Amino acid sequence: MQKPEIKITQDGPYIVTGNVPLSEKIIVPQGRKYELFEGRELPQTETYALCRCGKSKNTPFCDGSHEKVGFVGTETASKAKYEDRAELIGGPEIDLLDDNRCAFARFCHRDNGNVWELTQKSDWGDNRSEAIIAASECLAGRLVAVDKDGNEIEPELQPSIDIIQDPEKRVSAGIFVKGNIPIVGANGETYEVRNRVALCRCGNSENKPFCDATHVLTKFLDKK
Ligand code: FES
Repeated sequence: MQKPEIKITQDGPYIVTGNVPLSEKIIVPQGRKYELFEGRELPQTETYALCRCGKSKNTPFCDGSHEKVGFVGTETASKAKYEDRAELIGGPEIDLLDDNRCAFARFCHRDNGNVWELTQKSDWGDNRSEAIIAASECLAGRLVAVDKDGNEIEPELQPSIDIIQDPEKRVSAGIFVKGNIPIVGANGETYEVRNRVALCRCGNSENKPFCDATHVLTKFLDKK
């Protein structure tokens, strides 16, 4: 059986191979933090093409609209390693890596503060464990908690893809790619394989193929 993989096509969709489970998930506020709820059921196939231009009428799948609208999907993101791009923010009981690639999913917020505040005050109460949750739930993989022995703390995630909806902001959000699925650029070069990453599906990110939260500014909605 083919291994899971996402292939970016030049000015076209993401081609997903290897029977990767596909779901829709909804960002739901719970107090000052957030949870992902199940959305509508999506068809499961061995191979599928996910829209990258934001113009499909059959989202999340490509319907060929990218050709009609002349989508330009040039990849602009750095292929440098996360550890080389990320800044290490030190706290008393836990440290935090942060590469600033924000998909605006807001899972860095917890009841007692955001991941940066929790890290900086990680010697108080349950702030250390809350900082770890806040970092580990970041869909973009921007945030990674690092223990005082230098070990990165990552949740165990099976290869799977979530199409994100964000009704609180009245927008449709990016594509959450979990479980170390290789992403191959249009030029054949593979991006660093990561456990968590968010891909753009509104077509307007300035850091393609990754989500940079532009969908919030442009009020991208996949169901018109
Ligand atoms: S990428 Fe094909 S319709 Fe959007």
